[in-house]
Amino acid sequence: MIVSLENAVERLTQGDVVALPTETVYGLGACIDQPEALKRIFEIKGRPFFDPLIVHVKATTAARSLVLSWPPLADFLAERFWPGPLTLVLPKSEKVSSVITSGLNTVAIRWPNHVVLQKILDQLPTPIAAPSANLFGKTSPTTAAHVEQEFEKQIPVVDGGPCNIGLESTVIAFPGPNEVTILRPGGVSKTELAAALKYAFPQVTITEQQSVASPGHLKEHYRPAIPLVLVHAREIPKDQELECIARELDRKGRPVELKLSMDALLAARSLYGDLRRLSSLDSGFIIFCTEPYFNLPNWEAIKDRLTRAATLQWPRS
Ligand code: TXA
Ligand code: MG
Repeated sequence: MIVSLENAVERLTQGDVVALPTETVYGLGACIDQPEALKRIFEIKGRPFFDPLIVHVKATTAARSLVLSWPPLADFLAERFWPGPLTLVLPKSEKVSSVITSGLNTVAIRWPNHVVLQKILDQLPTPIAAPSANLFGKTSPTTAAHVEQEFEKQIPVVDGGPCNIGLESTVIAFPGPNEVTILRPGGVSKTELAAALKYAFPQVTITEQQSVASPGHLKEHYRPAIPLVLVHAREIPKDQELECIARELDRKGRPVELKLSMDALLAARSLYGDLRRLSSLDSGFIIFCTEPYFNLPNWEAIKDRLTRAATLQWPRS
């Protein structure tokens, strides 16, 4: 059900859950001072309570008020990348309910770069906690129509147009004064982080450590409605091999190919929409040929999503 910006503000204030546009993907939002609404987010998504939510703020000062410490590195990266697709994980203050953080003593925060969401945040007394607006484990939505489809028009959604980035924010933590850990690759690439830090913080190292510290980042995630197969080759396999794949998946029907731009920004923007569109065709499964894409620069977030979205890798490793 599409609602206006004003109506969304009213609903959020009253403790309702509303789907909202961001520059990355659509989020399923609630005010952070509304415990019942926060719980409803988990129910609507079918999301386990161990998977914490990201808090969306309207300025860096708002972020600082939610944390116990604000290290120089966080300050520098917020200045450089906010508003934008970078989420900072920091020790939480008591203002942040443990429903949001799944009992962790840290909170994930970002300032989104979407004018509609910014206007909504400006009119609310508190930040908004929001996961991506999809059923748990499924493909994230990048248009209001995707949200409508996902929740069968049962959830109010503000239409802010198609998401410009198209996949989720990069989630980072600060395990030490000179360390940045990427918990989830996303809209800001490792190269961009390294370039930003190079002169101001030359001693800082950036490491990648997924899933353990970012509990929601499970191996099976972002799954389209029909199986996705990653073929580690340049071309779609011959018929006989396709039959083997279909048997392995226990699927009938011809495969359909996912083709992405070689430009990481364009590929990210179209990825989730393409997966949804291809899933709705009368096909057995989706194939993506990983070569040469997976070795292209700044491809790590797309590679991460495709790998988790895939039911099968071919040939089997
Ligand atoms: O771009 C985005 O980040 C989108 C838009 C709506 O902002 N949101 C999003 O939320 O992708 P969600 O809930 O689908 O993913 C949040 C990720 C999960 O992997 C979760 O485990 C991690 O952030 N996360 C949240 N709080 C955390 C914390 N305190 N420590 C470590 N990871 C955390
Ligand atoms: Mg998600």
